Amino acid sequence: MIYSIVLSLHSWLRWAVLLLGLAALVRSARGWAQRTPRTAADRKLGAAFVGSLDAQLLLGVLLYVVLSPVTPSSLAALKASMPVAALRFFAVEHAFGMIVAVAIAHVASARAKRAADPTTQHRRMALGVLFALLVVLAAIPWPFLPFGRPLFRLP
Ligand code: HEM
Repeated sequence: MIYSIVLSLHSWLRWAVLLLGLAALVRSARGWAQRTPRTAADRKLGAAFVGSLDAQLLLGVLLYVVLSPVTPSSLAALKASMPVAALRFFAVEHAFGMIVAVAIAHVASARAKRAADPTTQHRRMALGVLFALLVVLAAIPWPFLPFGRPLFRLP
């Protein structure tokens, strides 16, 4: 019961991550190209993207450690699940990839804040969001993959 709620939240929140990331990418790339100042709206959008990733990380860790039946609860189970692509995907590739994406987004946002001029701020944000988004896109269990999941999960 609680499992299906958290899984649905985790599934739907992916769209918030992707939309906020796309919006933050477009704004920061435009700011970088046109050399405009970094506005409060730009900063809020960047923070919202990083926040949505953090929320996913929290739900993901909850699924991974407590709720999900498809992740290893012991080292022995981890070893046994390695040859099964679907189990390994969630046990290793998905979790590891998403943690890397969250780290990239945090580093980019911190480095953007530290930059002295707005063009460098926009550039650091644009490149960081782009790389984080590419990793997220590569680590999502899209429906066409052998271990795919629905695009819109109904609880
Ligand atoms: C940060 C961005 C993340 C995104 C965008 C994301 C996205 C998704 C999506 C779309 C699913 C499929 C949900 C469904 O079946 O409808 C999923 C499943 C899952 N995610 Fe994530 N995830 C993220 C981070 C994480 C992290 C960091 C972990 C673990 C440390 C994690 C653990 C899991 C697990 C265990 C499942 C499968 C749960 C199950 O079927 O029982 N996720 N994720």
